[in-house]
Amino acid sequence: MTGKHFHHGKSSKDILDSKKVLNAIGLKKGDIFLDAGSGDGYMSLAASKIVGEKGKVYAVDVWEESMNILKKEIQNSEISNIEPIIADISKKIPIKDETVDICYMANVLHGFVENDNLDKVMSEIRRILRPEGIFAVVEFKKIENTPGPPMKIKINPKNVREIIEKYHLTFKNVEEVGKHHYVVITVK
Ligand SMILES: C[S@@+](CC[C@H](N)C(=O)[O-])C[C@H]1O[C@@H](n2cnc3c(N)ncnc32)[C@H](O)[C@@H]1O
Repeated sequence: MTGKHFHHGKSSKDILDSKKVLNAIGLKKGDIFLDAGSGDGYMSLAASKIVGEKGKVYAVDVWEESMNILKKEIQNSEISNIEPIIADISKKIPIKDETVDICYMANVLHGFVENDNLDKVMSEIRRILRPEGIFAVVEFKKIENTPGPPMKIKINPKNVREIIEKYHLTFKNVEEVGKHHYVVITVK
């Protein structure tokens, strides 16, 4: 978490449609879902409804305050299929090898690119994904005067595709998932 662009940040809850996103990435009942850099975990909460009792959601974030918001919600709503984990995903993702069906990362990748510390996080993502598992990256569209990080930090779908391909994941497709966001879907 040390770096020029210290990137804990705002939740995208109000500007990203969770149903649209989870539908685009093909989340289904029984899946094991990882929300990497989950923030307050609103997407994890939506995912937990889809994966159901036989599925599981890992919400991982390094920012304890965000995790506490999610933990409270898990308690209040008696949710049993979300495991909140406080961890720095650029060091270690505390999940077993090849167990995750979909790793979702929203509004987080640009920070790792900016800080030039992608290698470890990408090798951890490859490690925990099952063969043919999905890595889905949501980012802000690179458009001036719109929400998200400064223009020089925003990345476009082509950048995301090239970055992920370097780590030997295969590009599948890119889709618009909101006024300000797109998702790049890749496969292990
Ligand atoms: C802009 S927020 C996005 C939160 C959420 N994904 C969303 O779309 O609302 C970025 C999140 O990534 C988390 N984060 C940044 N670096 C991280 C790291 N190395 N390990 C775990 N989480 C990290 C931050 O704490 C923050 O909650």
